[in-house]
This record gives sequence, C-alpha cells and structure tokens, in this order.
Amino acid sequence: MFDFKYYTPTKVIFGKNTQEQVADLVKEFGGTKVLIHYGGGSVVRSGLLQQVKDKLDQAGISYLELGGAVPNPHLSLVYEGIELCKKEKVDFLLAVGGGSAIDSAKAIGYGVANEGDVWELYDGKKKANASLPLGVILTLAATGSEMSDSSVITKEEGLLKRGYNSDLCRPKFAILNPELTMTLPDYQTACGCTDIMMHTMERYFTNGGNMEITDAMAEGLLRTVKKNALILKKDPKNYDARAEVMWAGSLSHNGLTGCGNNGGDWMPHKLEHELGGLFDVAHGAGLAAIWGSWARYVYKNCLPRFKKYALNVMEVEDRGSDEEIALCGIEATEDFFRSIDMPTNLRELGIKPTDEDLQTMARKCAIGVGGKKGSARVLDEAAMLEIYRASM
Ligand code: NZQ
Ligand code: ZN
Repeated sequence: MFDFKYYTPTKVIFGKNTQEQVADLVKEFGGTKVLIHYGGGSVVRSGLLQQVKDKLDQAGISYLELGGAVPNPHLSLVYEGIELCKKEKVDFLLAVGGGSAIDSAKAIGYGVANEGDVWELYDGKKKANASLPLGVILTLAATGSEMSDSSVITKEEGLLKRGYNSDLCRPKFAILNPELTMTLPDYQTACGCTDIMMHTMERYFTNGGNMEITDAMAEGLLRTVKKNALILKKDPKNYDARAEVMWAGSLSHNGLTGCGNNGGDWMPHKLEHELGGLFDVAHGAGLAAIWGSWARYVYKNCLPRFKKYALNVMEVEDRGSDEEIALCGIEATEDFFRSIDMPTNLRELGIKPTDEDLQTMARKCAIGVGGKKGSARVLDEAAMLEIYRASM
C-alpha cells in the first residue's frame, strides 16, 4: 500500500428535510453575508431556493443571489460572481444545485480570495492561497463536488474545459437530502450514477499499490451504485435507492476509494472534458461514451485489475483466460450503461465530430495533461486520438 493523505473536512448532514438546517450551518461556519449560487432554475421551480431564503431571513443572515450556472459552467459567470462578491463584501458562498453550481461557486471563491485572474489556476499557471468558505445543498448525486477538492470550469473563448484541485475549496458543509434529487430527469439520474462509478473506477484501474481494504470499499461502492441505478430506472422515487446513490457519490470522489493506490488513472475524465468543452455534452454521458474504447485500449496493461473488476463488480463467470474474463467485464459494463440508457460511443452520445475535431481534442487533451498521463496505461496524444477514433 502506498503512503497517502486522506483529508475530508466537510461536515455532512444527510437525510430528509436537512435543508432546514442551512441557516444554523452558515452561522456555524461564520457566514454573515451569503452569495446563494445556483443553476438554470430547477431550484426555483422545486421551491428549494425559496425555502433556503426563508431560513436565512428567519435567522437574520443577509444574502444575495446569482443563478445561471450552466452544465459545464462558464468562466464569464465566475467573473460576474467575483465582482459581485467583492462589491457586496460577501463572506460565505452557498451553492444550491448540482456539480456545475458547486464548481462555479468554488471558482468564485478562489477569485475573491486570490489576486489576479482566476483562470490562471485552471490553466495551471499558478496556485491558490485561499478561498471563500463554501456550503452546499446538493440536488444531483453525481460529481462528488460536495466533498471533493476539485472544480471544473469552461472558458468560452477557445472552449477550454479545465479542472483545478486544492483542499482550499472543500466545502465546509454538505446538506444531502436524497428527496431533493427526485425531480431529476431520468437522463440526469443515469448520468449521475455513471459519473459516480467512474470516480471510483478511475482510482481502481491503476498499476500501482496493493490496497485490499480500499479495493473492497471500491468494489462494494460500484456494486451498490450499479444495483440502485437499475432500481431508479424503474422506480425513480425510491428513497432508499436515491439515498444509496447519493452517499456513494460523495464517498466516490472524496478520496476514500483511492487511499493507497498510486493516484489513479483519470484519462477517461480527461478525454471526456475535451468532449464537454467542444460539444457541451452531459459529463456522465460523455464518460459512458468514451469508457469502452479506453478500456479496450488499456486493459492488457492492467490485466489483474480488469479481471478482478469483471469478477467482483460485473459478476461475470470465472471461465476462460484472464484476457477473456477482462473483456467480458468491459462488455458487461457497456451492457449496464445501455440498460440505463447511457451511450457507449460518440454516435449514441448524439455528436458527430469530424476527424479534425478528434485531432483537436487529442491535441488539447495532451496539452492539458502535460503530454502524457494514465496509470492503467500511459497515453500520449497518438493514443488519445486512437481512443477517440475507436469511440466513433
Ligand atoms: O441548472 P439547473 O436548472 O439546476 O438544472 C440542472 C442541469 O440542467 C439539472 N438539475 C440538477 N439538480 C436537479 C436538476 N433538475 C431537476 N431536479 C434536480 N434536483 O441537471 C442538469 C445538470 O446539472 P449539473 O450541475 O450540470 O450536473 P452535474 O452535477 O453532473 O455537474 C456536471 C459538472 O461537474 C463537473 C463536470 O465536468 C461538469 O462540468 N465535474 C466536477 C467534479 C468535481 N468538482 O469534483 C468532478 C466530476 O468528475 C466532473 O468533472
Ligand atoms: Zn466525473
């Protein structure tokens, strides 16, 4: 087992009606002037935003609102939020929504607390020294941003989607009420389940480290999400299935399922981020569309773990060679994606990139990762292009 650091400072408040505790939590973490940040309006339609404002009003906490964080959240709104917070002397950010609203709030927090252009963090040019404190009310179990050290922002100019990681942005608290996810369209629920599984799979398919306890947690998490994703397909209002998926989402990306490995692979995510940047696809669907081509490209270099995954997660029969078992596991994963209406290639994702687009994405991806990246198998630009082409 490799050495590791495990840091999860986020206070998690889980269960029905937990959003009613929001004002107490903001106070607990020192917020006196709050920016409530949200997305395109689902929280207005559900009544959640009004409920939050009522709670803050009752507690005498002043607040401002900034909606409009789109999926694959834009840098321009981040700049707007930074200006607003500085002008109004906001000292606490409250993200109400999915990963996009949370990530946009994280970027605003960096922009307020650090000198210079916040994009330079995402562009890899500098590191943050501070951030505004952030609380979250989650409405979509998917990204794990409610506990993660990560945020992903898209710069409209050049369609660059880039992530920045730092413990500074880990939320102070996360309110997780599974009932708040019941208004989700089925497609977003399935995208969320896919993303959750991917966050653990990225950490699982590595070529470094023996991590029995971590593997057992990872495999249990993957089996749980797979099972409950299928339940939610038939019964979207099933509270227990919503709850299992929601907690799995946080655990999948707070670092737990990677303790003791060599940092994970992360190439499916990097390949997807270029798809999200250029074609604005839903993150989870983009991951499902690219994963099979990636897995087939790398599995021979990471055979023991692909075999273990096939047997312990996808529950394929222990028959044939290791390679055959690993391939059965990859096929079973794609069958699972199809069973929850997720795409398994770019056509099914609904986009038609030209070969020039694929070359552009491979080039941008290679630049973004500093040339080469991966643990299951290290990929360079030529390998990235081959995977994009195979996913057509
Ligand atoms: O914008 P609104 O109106 O709220 O609608 C959203 C949006 O259209 C809707 N939605 C959310 N909760 C809802 C709801 N609709 C009805 N009822 C609800 N309860 O769902 C749509 C998608 O929302 P979004 O926040 O974009 O989705 P998600 O949570 O999947 O976030 C995706 C973004 O997070 C990034 C992705 O790349 C993408 O930009 N990621 C962030 C990570 C992190 N910070 O740790 C890690 C991930 O790997 C990922 O890269
Ligand atoms: Zn993800």
